[in-house]
Amino acid sequence: MSSILPSSSGRDREFKFTQDDFERVSKLIYEHAGISLKSSKQDMVYSRLARRVRATGFDNFRDYLDYVGKNDPVEWEAFVNSLTTNLTSFFREPHHFPLLAEHVIKQGRSHQISLWCSAASTGEEPYSIAMTMVDAFGSFSPPVSILATDVNTTVLAKAESGVYPIEHVEKLPADKVKRFFLRGTGTQSGFVKVRPELQDMITFRPANLLAESLPIRGPLDAIFCRNVMIYFDKQTQLKILQRFVPLLQPDGLVFAGHSESFYNASHLFRLRGKTVYELVKPYSHERQENI
Ligand SMILES: C[S@@+](CC[C@H](N)C(=O)[O-])C[C@H]1O[C@@H](n2cnc3c(N)ncnc32)[C@H](O)[C@@H]1O
Repeated sequence: MSSILPSSSGRDREFKFTQDDFERVSKLIYEHAGISLKSSKQDMVYSRLARRVRATGFDNFRDYLDYVGKNDPVEWEAFVNSLTTNLTSFFREPHHFPLLAEHVIKQGRSHQISLWCSAASTGEEPYSIAMTMVDAFGSFSPPVSILATDVNTTVLAKAESGVYPIEHVEKLPADKVKRFFLRGTGTQSGFVKVRPELQDMITFRPANLLAESLPIRGPLDAIFCRNVMIYFDKQTQLKILQRFVPLLQPDGLVFAGHSESFYNASHLFRLRGKTVYELVKPYSHERQENI
């Protein structure tokens, strides 16, 4: 019999949670989304999934996991959404944005700029990219298209709505807030909404970085893949980086998170700036197919 995992607070748990339950959850989410759950995440997994066990009316993890494993698509989505960590903010890692602006301006008007934000979470990152593009081109309709994807459909819906509690923009310069956000009134007071011109630049789509096919067509000028690789093991990271190669323009950039490095893919990418990478060898786009 599998050992019962105690909560780190020592308090009794509503549902029995065993080592076997934790291992089943870990296997399911690793195989689907590449997320590697260390044993230190047991409490987190319990608290996030206990809500799903309760909501689906089961009284134990084993039966709930049997049910999820049988592929009820609605519960499967809720299961996956429960297990991702979605922390983000506007202009997180601010050094990336001037570099992006410089890169796209360098392209002149040679082509429509195409950018992919591959772990967009609740949208602060793709909207920060859109604001940077407006400033770079001095226009609210710059020649730029941004694809924003995430495996978590709940956060992506929030991203698409473009509505945020006012505290989320408190750290932004006042002139940015004024230019790029509309203040809510009445029932919306305490919230801001991004200007529709920013939303028009972005297409939101659910996408799993590990899925067999991605809803993305290259060539891309830049890929933002920030603060998501940390959840993957080295093997998964490499697999994803290999997928990026044929999607990029010869001088395309990949933006990574502050604690992510691509040293194990040094045959594919080299450092171009602080946590910004470029291709070692451009891919021949004549061979490119829609992947
Ligand atoms: C910590 S947030 C980072 C958000 C943003 N990129 C940033 O740096 O602020 C990680 C995001 O990666 C998403 N994610 C996790 N696994 C994924 C996968 N296999 N495919 C796509 N997105 C994934 C999560 O849903 C979450 O929204």
